[in-house]
Amino acid sequence: MSFSASWLELREPHDRRARNAAVLDAVVKAFADRSSVAITDLACGTGSTLRALSPRLKARQNWRLADNDLSLLARTPESRPPGLMVSTTPVDLERDLEAALDGPADLVTTSALLDLVSDAWLNRLAVEVAARRLPVYAALSYDGRVDMTPSDPGDGAIVAAVNQHQRTDKGFGPALGPDAAKLAPQRFERVGYAVVQGASDWVFGPNDREIQLETLTGWATAAREMGTVPLPEVVSWLTRRRDLVAAGRSTIRVGHIDLFARPTGSR
Ligand SMILES: C[S@@+](CC[C@H](N)C(=O)[O-])C[C@H]1O[C@@H](n2cnc3c(N)ncnc32)[C@H](O)[C@@H]1O
Repeated sequence: MSFSASWLELREPHDRRARNAAVLDAVVKAFADRSSVAITDLACGTGSTLRALSPRLKARQNWRLADNDLSLLARTPESRPPGLMVSTTPVDLERDLEAALDGPADLVTTSALLDLVSDAWLNRLAVEVAARRLPVYAALSYDGRVDMTPSDPGDGAIVAAVNQHQRTDKGFGPALGPDAAKLAPQRFERVGYAVVQGASDWVFGPNDREIQLETLTGWATAAREMGTVPLPEVVSWLTRRRDLVAAGRSTIRVGHIDLFARPTGSR
């Protein structure tokens, strides 16, 4: 599955605002006394986690950004402040997760990935990071909660179709979709990790028109692909919701969770 740079750019400020402050603080605190940190960012896109986390870490940082999309990797930051080294690794994480985790690393990060992966891949990630005793900061996993204000009679059926679509294969086998948010903490706890987690919901206000329109269009497309809602109903739902956005009357909350998982030493 591919993600456009323009979509990642549009969502990044909302992701940044949504990231759970307590979880981020836990990550920062864990590395507070380090003079240097090596970080592997899985499915980095254009580097949003680097941009969100690196200013918070006091240590010298060596980031390895891993993704299978060369055009996104090419857009990762080029100019870096002193003390920040960045390299890119083109890798298919479904096939070569282990290779991506090999090499010097103190922390694994990812964002907006775990809802795309299968339960088997999530387990594999947990086992592989545990074998290397690597902490994991995984942000912005969609948890299936959507709240649109004002509500529309069509919302329930569309969101149900979207959540069904979320479970289709995104390149890692049947995707966890909204289940990732619940299962990921359990999978890390099962390999002896302590997990801090918290909500990182998107909250799009009436003035966030562009991301609302993109999100609603994406949901309508997903619903059309699932075929569970008759096409005329999808179209009229989208028209009504777009009208609310245009009138400055629409607010949308989309549930996500962030987690920071650390090996505790007891298994
Ligand atoms: C929703 S985007 C998130 C990107 C970035 N972490 C962010 O938060 O902006 C998902 C990312 O996963 C990457 N991806 C999807 N399947 C992949 C695979 N099999 N191997 C490596 N990266 C993959 C995509 O290229 C994309 O950059």
